[in-house]
Amino acid sequence: MRGFTVADKTSAYDRDDDEDDPVIPNVLTGQGATSAAQASDGASAAGADDDTADAESVASAAPSPKKPSRKGLFKSSKNATKAEAPALFSPIALRGATARNRIWLPPMDTYSAFARDGKPTPFHYQHYVSRAMGGFGLVCFEATAVTPDGRISPCDLGLWDDDQIEAYRWIVQGVKDAGAVAAIQLNHAGRKGSTGCFATGFEGESVPQDQGGWPTVAPSPIAFDNFAAPRELTVDEIHGIVGAFRAAAVRAVNAGFDVIEIHAAHGYLLSEFLDPLTNTRTDEYGGSLENRMRMLVEVVDAVRAAVAPSVALFVRVSATDWAAGGWDLNQTIETARVLKVHGVDLVDVSTGGILPGVAIPAKPNYQVPFSEQIRLKALVPTTAVGLITKPKQADRIVRRGEADAVQIGRAALRDPYWPLRAADKLGLKTSEAPYQPQYIRGAY
Ligand SMILES: Cc1cc2nc3c(=O)[nH]c(=O)nc-3n(C[C@H](O)[C@H](O)[C@H](O)COP(=O)(O)O)c2cc1C
Repeated sequence: MRGFTVADKTSAYDRDDDEDDPVIPNVLTGQGATSAAQASDGASAAGADDDTADAESVASAAPSPKKPSRKGLFKSSKNATKAEAPALFSPIALRGATARNRIWLPPMDTYSAFARDGKPTPFHYQHYVSRAMGGFGLVCFEATAVTPDGRISPCDLGLWDDDQIEAYRWIVQGVKDAGAVAAIQLNHAGRKGSTGCFATGFEGESVPQDQGGWPTVAPSPIAFDNFAAPRELTVDEIHGIVGAFRAAAVRAVNAGFDVIEIHAAHGYLLSEFLDPLTNTRTDEYGGSLENRMRMLVEVVDAVRAAVAPSVALFVRVSATDWAAGGWDLNQTIETARVLKVHGVDLVDVSTGGILPGVAIPAKPNYQVPFSEQIRLKALVPTTAVGLITKPKQADRIVRRGEADAVQIGRAALRDPYWPLRAADKLGLKTSEAPYQPQYIRGAY
């Protein structure tokens, strides 16, 4: 990494006070501060396609900032005006859908397809719809496998068969009825597949094949930690998995989802291809960065071509594997630039998960600087995630332009109504907060 250190940036943000708020540069419109990255790259928002332009109109309606930042990349704005509302609660257009706010539920596996058929259950209805009722602007369904052997565990959700579509519909409708945008993360687990979970046993290890496990595949035959060694994929098999992503995306749209997120993070198949430490291939899918990102770009192209222009396309990345000689921020920025050209609307910025035994300096906001850098240097909207737990902390990230939205993961597992609490903490009127009408009498 060049230009900043995670530790330096995060230490200043771990607080929940009321200090002056900096500006929100709008990556989509170029409004707000002139960033160092924009100046040095000579890049602009021009080139965004028509669908992205739709998003601009809503995104640019975000409240103006109070004051220019005294530090960081956004110090040059002279046009900042007083904020009228917390940035966190400003809507944002995602092609055909509009998220009512920038508090999103990230994908989180629940391993609760108990029949091992990939189909969601009443648990999933309760889980996702309650978070939508709690005010989240976007609710992303957990990693959902595009093939049976692309599951992380036998109890993962799946969309590898038309027969699975129906089980999603009522849940997606429930999420939308409660006012949230419905997103789904599509995944192939690669060498991290066929592992156990609370429902199957074998947690933290491979499920034996005679107990419901399966042989795993990867770019190269390198095992993850104590997991069973994967088999190297042939080029034909790679093409087949690209097609499986496309078909699963079509099924997801058929089930009613507004947003498709491709999982290219955390050491699952697509991120295994990206990382030179897990991809040692010598064909057109290995070696140079262009080759290592080839499968991801093919997936993006296949999905983008198969779904309507109104469907937004996200990609989740690990911005670093936290290991020397591996995947890092600069490669992520290069990849994000390419993904944007290929029709990706937003990059969901996480880190890690690719290599075993790596020390991750996790603390509040520790992944936010990655989001900020990708947003500025690839000029693509981003989300930030990771130990964002406090309303003012979350609001500050959006207000500063470090991300277009924040995701609240574990904190939302213990508090499905986190956005309603945040609305109160940030001083929104009840009428402006995302209450269900039935619950207004219980407002803070
Ligand atoms: C129970 C659990 C399941 C998760 N499953 C997924 C997943 O399916 N896909 C994914 O990309 N990340 C997954 N994650 C990571 C989260 O999306 C998020 O990035 C992480 O929890 C950090 O955010 P937090 O500190 O707000 O929890 C999972 C995290 C948890 C706690």
